[in-house]
Amino acid sequence: MNMQERNAIYQLAREWVLEAGQAIRKRMNTPLTIETKADANDLVTTMDKDTEYFFMNNIKKVYPDHLIIGEEGYGDDVTSLDGTVWIIDPIDGTMNFVHQKRNFAISVGIYHDGVGEIGLIYDVMADHLYSAKKGEGAFKNDTPLTPLPDSKRFDEAILGVNHFWLCENHLVNEKKMQELVRTVRGTRTYGSAALEFAYVAEGVMDGYIAMGLSAWDIAAGIVIVKEVGGVTTTSFGEPINLLQSASVLTCNPVIHERIVNGFMLKGRK
Ligand code: IPD
Ligand code: CA
Ligand code: CA
Ligand code: CA
Repeated sequence: MNMQERNAIYQLAREWVLEAGQAIRKRMNTPLTIETKADANDLVTTMDKDTEYFFMNNIKKVYPDHLIIGEEGYGDDVTSLDGTVWIIDPIDGTMNFVHQKRNFAISVGIYHDGVGEIGLIYDVMADHLYSAKKGEGAFKNDTPLTPLPDSKRFDEAILGVNHFWLCENHLVNEKKMQELVRTVRGTRTYGSAALEFAYVAEGVMDGYIAMGLSAWDIAAGIVIVKEVGGVTTTSFGEPINLLQSASVLTCNPVIHERIVNGFMLKGRK
């Protein structure tokens, strides 16, 4: 994708994200239909569905040949990342949206032939738009984000970690995870993977580790984090395949190796 194409798509995507955010804020206090999906705590609302439909409808009108991967099922049945693919989470952090009315985001990642070209993460209630275009740096609203520091003491790092890592689990030795939590300076759990990626890019967290995420949770974040020099892999340091869910580690490269080799001992239960 050349720069002109990327800029044109970015302008529209940005407009749509801001418009969708405004629509959510406007309807914030109207009654919601809340349903559950995989289990009783896996929520979806009319707002999630309407927001995804809004993107799908706009994208298909302007770019009928682009493909869409969306959490709520309005997208295409995508089996490869060839061509231009929009990867959309209409509301990331639905539980926060329902219970807290804040700390949720719209996440839109745009890839071309598998390469991340554009990332947009919009913290709707705070009106913070994190954005990046490939090779052009990352921004919070109109302010450029600073490249991540090239040195970081591990015992001064703050990590985003879901508490499930500390319970007995199928991925890693939870004792090792407890050691990780004790070794770093602090841990946080915000309940929105997209926002956690944005915080890593902003440098207010040094890393975020998640057990099982899908393309829509991370597609935008990967692009934004990369633009400030961060890396994203599975929690075991393997490359991310956006066509399947997996564990995710996004962080300052200085601490990546330390986490992967020191704590993520696959199969060593
Ligand atoms: C969820 C959030 C949450 C993460 C879950 C995701 P959703 O996305 O990102 O932080 O822990 O794994 O599914 O369902 O609210 O879009
Ligand atoms: Ca969901
Ligand atoms: Ca999500
Ligand atoms: Ca969602």
